[in-house]
Amino acid sequence: MASPWTASARTATPPAGRAATGWYPVARSAQVGTTPLPVGAGGQAYVVLRLRPGAEVTALSARCPHRLVPLAHATVVDGRVQCPYHGWQFDAEGRCVDIPSLGPAGTPPPRADLTGPWAVEERDGWVWLAPERTPAVRPPRSGDAVPTPEPVPALPTPAGPVLGNLDPSLAHAWHPVALAGELHEGGWVQARLLGRTWTVHRHDGALDADPPAWGVVERHGLVWIAPAEPRDSPLAVPESTDPRAVHAWLPPARSPAPAGPLADLFLDAAHVPVVHPGADATHEPVAEVTPEAGGSTSVRVERSAGGGLRRTTAVHRAPFQLRVRTDELGTGAARTTLHLLQPEDEDSTRVYSCLFLTPPDGTALTPDDVAAAVAEADAVLAADLELAAGLGSTGLPLLPRDELHVPADSPGVALRRTLADFAAAGPLRRTA
Ligand code: FES
Ligand SMILES: [Fe+2]
Repeated sequence: MASPWTASARTATPPAGRAATGWYPVARSAQVGTTPLPVGAGGQAYVVLRLRPGAEVTALSARCPHRLVPLAHATVVDGRVQCPYHGWQFDAEGRCVDIPSLGPAGTPPPRADLTGPWAVEERDGWVWLAPERTPAVRPPRSGDAVPTPEPVPALPTPAGPVLGNLDPSLAHAWHPVALAGELHEGGWVQARLLGRTWTVHRHDGALDADPPAWGVVERHGLVWIAPAEPRDSPLAVPESTDPRAVHAWLPPARSPAPAGPLADLFLDAAHVPVVHPGADATHEPVAEVTPEAGGSTSVRVERSAGGGLRRTTAVHRAPFQLRVRTDELGTGAARTTLHLLQPEDEDSTRVYSCLFLTPPDGTALTPDDVAAAVAEADAVLAADLELAAGLGSTGLPLLPRDELHVPADSPGVALRRTLADFAAAGPLRRTA
C-alpha cells in the first residue's frame, strides 16, 4: 500500500520563486545536536540544530546575512547561534540579538534576522520542516515507511555581480607571482595567475614572461606581472625606506578563497575579537574611511592593554594590495603588515605577507623579537585562512544589498566600491 504521507505531505520542488508547501523530512532526530546540520526542504537550504542539549529543534536559513557565511560553521554560545566570522548571534526564532561591533547599546537592524521555515516539528524520530504555511498543521505519521530527506541544496548565491579570481578586469592590474628570492639569476619560476600558467625568467637582471605580458617587474621584494595594460595605482610602502624598520616575510600561504573576500578579511577589524581572541586592545571596530584614487585609507584609534593609544591605518589599492600599519602613539613603535594577493585560479589565491617592525624610540629589535613577531603574525594568518576556507565564497559580492553592512564595515564597503569601479571600467585595449 502506498504510504499516505509520501504523496500528500511532500510535493515536488516548486519552480523557482514559488513557495514550497507541505512537510519535508530533513534528518533523524538523533542526528540533530548542538552543531548545525545543513539540510534541504522544498529546495531551500537550512541548518537545523538544538540550542541546548536535548532542546527542541531550531531551523534557520543557511547563510549569515552579513557576509553570507554558511551557518554550518556556526557554534552555539549561551543558547544562541553564533556566526564564526564577526560573532553575530541569533535566537531560536532567527532574530539577530547581538552584533558585537555595534557595542553593548547597539540594536541589530531587522534585516539582520535570519529567515526560518514556517514550522519545524519532530515526529516519530524524524525532524520535519514546512518551508511555507501549509494546510496540514503537523507532519504526517510515517507508519512503517522510512522518510527520505532530499539532498542538501546549494546555498543561495548573491543576486548581483560577484568579483571572482578569473574576472576579465583583473588582467589590467599588476599581480604578485613570486617572492623575488624564488627567482634566481639565470633561472625561472612558473606561476598560476588568472587561470593561466606563466613562466618568468631572469636573465642578466632583466625579467620576461611567457606567455608575453604587458609588463614584468620586481617591486616590494616580489615579482609582479601585468597581463595587460594596468590601470591600478601602486601601493606606497614608506616603511621600505625607513632605516628604523626591520622587515621579514612570512612564508607565502595559499587559500581556496578568492582574493576579494580575503582582502576584505585582512581589512576587517570587527572579526578580530572573535577569530583572534586575546588581542590586547579595547577593540574599536569603526574606522574613518577616505576614498582615494584606486582605493581607500581607513584609520581607527583604540586603547591598548597598556593604556596607550594605538592608531591603525589600513590602505587598500585595487585590486588586492593592502598595507595595515599600527602605531603605538607616543612610543615611536609601529608594526606594518603588507598583504599582497595573487589570484591564481577560481579557487586558489596565493597570499604574500611582509612584516615591518619599528621598535620603541631608543630601543632596538633583537632577532628573537623579530622571530616572535613573525610567529605571531603567522598564527594570525593561519586563523584567518582557516576561516576563509569555510566562507564558501566564489568571490566578493559587489551589489551592496546582497550583504548587510553595519558601521564597522565601512572599509569593506569602500573596498567593494573600488573593486566594482575597477571591474566596471571594462578591458582596455591590449598594447603588448
Ligand atoms: S557575523 Fe556572520 S558574516 Fe559577519
Ligand atoms: Fe584576522
